[in-house]
This record gives sequence, C-alpha cells and structure tokens, in this order.
Amino acid sequence: MEKVGILLVSYGSREAAIADSFWRSENYKVNIFDADKQKNPFIVERATDYNIGQDLQKICEFAKRHEDEIDFGIVGPEGHIIGGIRDIIEKETKIPMICPRKEYAIEGSKVSQRHLLEKCFPEANPRFKVFNIKDYSSKYDLRKDVYSWLDELENQVAVKPDAPATGKGVGVWGDHFSTREEVFNHFIFICDYGPVVIEEKIEGEEFSLQFFSDGKHLVPTEAVRDYKRAFDGDRGINTGGMGSYKSQGKKLPFMDQEDWEAGLEIGKKIFKELKVNGDKELLGIPLYMAYICTAEGVKVLEINSRPGDPEIQNLLPTLEDDFVDVCFRILDGNLTRLNFAKKASVVTYAVPMTYGGYRTVFSGDSRVDLIKSRKLSEKYGDAIRIYPGSMELRGKETYALGSRTVCTVGIADDIESARSISLEGIVAIDGPLWNRWDIGSKEHIVKSVEHMKSLRG
Ligand code: GLY
Repeated sequence: MEKVGILLVSYGSREAAIADSFWRSENYKVNIFDADKQKNPFIVERATDYNIGQDLQKICEFAKRHEDEIDFGIVGPEGHIIGGIRDIIEKETKIPMICPRKEYAIEGSKVSQRHLLEKCFPEANPRFKVFNIKDYSSKYDLRKDVYSWLDELENQVAVKPDAPATGKGVGVWGDHFSTREEVFNHFIFICDYGPVVIEEKIEGEEFSLQFFSDGKHLVPTEAVRDYKRAFDGDRGINTGGMGSYKSQGKKLPFMDQEDWEAGLEIGKKIFKELKVNGDKELLGIPLYMAYICTAEGVKVLEINSRPGDPEIQNLLPTLEDDFVDVCFRILDGNLTRLNFAKKASVVTYAVPMTYGGYRTVFSGDSRVDLIKSRKLSEKYGDAIRIYPGSMELRGKETYALGSRTVCTVGIADDIESARSISLEGIVAIDGPLWNRWDIGSKEHIVKSVEHMKSLRG
C-alpha cells in the first residue's frame, strides 16, 4: 500500500474524526503527524509523532522537522486558520496545506461577512447595522444611535462582536436581554474588542451546510442540525455545540428541498465572490454556512471557514470516498463530487460538570475512561464512533479538560436508531460528565417541523 504522511492540526473531537477517516483509508497507509492542543488519547496514541501547543511558529517548526515525511497538511481549528497557519507553513516548507489562506478566512470578521452577503446575496442577510465606538465622541451619542436602531427593529435583535467569540459574545433579545439597558450594557462589554453588528433577530429553524473545495469547484454536503444550547429543550446558554444530527440524504425533516437548494445557491455566490483572486486559495472546507429557515426563505446566521464541530463528525463517518483520495483531489483541483452513504447520524457530546453552567463548581477527580463505550464497536461495528476532544492522556489514564470532552456518533438507517446508538455510547462512558439527552429526539424534531409549519402558514 502507498504510504502517505499527513500533518493534522488539531483541537478536539473534530480532528479525531478526521484522523479516523484517514486511518480507515483502504488505499493508503497513513502516518499522522499531529500538531495538537492537548495529548488527545485517540490521535496521539496512533500518531507517528505529535507536538503539543498552539503557537503557529512552533507548529511550523514541527512540520519542518518532518517535511520529507509529510505529503500534505490539513487544519481543523478556526483560530489557526484565521491566524494564517497555511500561509506560514507554505512559506517555510514544501508542504501544501488544506484550509483557506488567512486572507480568505471570512470567519474572522462578522462585519465582512454581512458586507459580502450584501453584495452577492442581500436577500439572505438580516437587516443589520455596524457600530464602532471609535466613531463616537460620546457614549450619549452612541446610545442614541443604538436605541434608534432598536426602535427600527422593535428590539428584536442579535448583538454580535466582529471577531469570533465561540458563541459567547453573541447576545439575543428574549434569550439574553429583556431591556434596552441590557442590550446596551452587552454592547459596551464587547465593543472594546472592535466593531459590533446589531442585526434583526430571526425566527426559524437552523441548519448548516459545509462545502468542500479544491479552490475551483464547490462541493456541497448534506444538511446538519447543531444543538448550540446547553440543557434539554434548548434552555441553557450557548455552547460550542452539544450535539448534532443529520438524516439520510440532503435535507432535514423540517426543511423543504428548496431550503437545501437555497443554501447551495447562497454558498455558490459567496464562493464566486471570494474566489476572484485565484484557484488555490479556498481549499478544504472554506465555507461552513450556518443558515436559518424562515417564513421568508433561508437566511445566513454566520459564515465559517473550516469544518464544523460537531457537524463534520456527522458527515465523515458516512463518506463513501476514501478521505485521503478526497484530499489529493482537493490539492489537484479535481474535486467535483462527494459520495455519502444513505445513512442518518447523531452526535452527542459529553462535557465537564461546569461546562454550559450545569454546575457552578466541580472539585472532583476528572478521570474519564472510554473503554466500555469503545467496546460497543464489538456490537455495532462501524456504526458507532467514539471521538475524544478536550481530553488528555496522562500516563495510561485519560482526563477531561475544560471544554467538550468526548462525542459519540451513532450511524443508522434513521435518526432515531442513530440516536439510540449514540446514547448507548454516552451511557457507557465512565467519568464526571453530563450531556443533553434530546439530540435528534423525535420530540425535538417534531417541534422544529411544527415550528416551520406555523411560520410558513
Ligand atoms: N458547531 C459550531 C461550530 O463549529 O462553530
């Protein structure tokens, strides 16, 4: 078998899923060189070599040390992409990198995203205005303008910082504020970091589409629903994502086929607009679009420049193409389609006790043992995947760190069966973690379907 060396720039479970897809290659013997945030037990144990740390220059030095063994690199985390990891490594080594260049990491600015959309697909933009404290000589004038925009939108707003804040800087009327003072206080809290977008709060049901690209072609994938909120019934605060589901096929139960098509059209227009300077800039997953289905059609919530976490964990296990070949086609500029099995998948995250505000303190031991959940592959074969994220190998044992600890993926012919496999994986985890129980549940999906019906009249 042909040998392939891959530099994997990692952060959590998303990259464990990417590594797993490489190691499952039937066409190549893959050696992974893992540049990781922590000693991820899944990746580090199987990697040819690894480097821990997020400093881009140090990652580049690690890549340089293995330059002759590495055929290409691939990057998961947004911070590294926005920071220009591809530009740095490609400048200092011969390793081609799969991710957008710094200049094309549109995820880095919500203001640019709104302006770009205004140019190429304005009907998918909510009404928005950008405020910058630097443009005002007094807080009084700033408040006056903000309040007058709140008047226009009848207070139904979402307030977002320009730079990514992993959901934490975003505040929404009705969820985070119920008075204008609260809106303004939140605005003041985030405006020190740069411009702030105040946009119309949109009512509807969310889905995301991730697009692969070789720089020339844009290849869409199936829609996935992410569960952003902590706690069942979406009652908690925003998190990085507590789990996600996808159906068999392109659309989700609450979507019409036209919604998926609209998502594709919006993605294509943005891609065309971004791609003007060349055919090699937008490699990998340059667009991971967060959409919302509304009574007036599909709107864009935000644009990311990388694979979604956990959404990519829904897709990769159902990809029928050899993922190493997919990467070579990305680099060769001939990725024109992807084939997915007709399967549903459900991802559930188990997270630390204090994550998402489940507990205010937890002072216990954070050891986590995945042996029993991994053993479920004897029962389910490839239909279950266990991907550690914010976990660390210490000697022979593994420990939860601060963020999302581990996700379990169930794959089956329908969402309900996939969910039951995913939850069986969760229940078999030994450790002080909690999770949502309603990811992909019938009740949650029916609620989304009914919500769309009522919006569409
Ligand atoms: N699913 C949320 C994110 O990847 O940003």
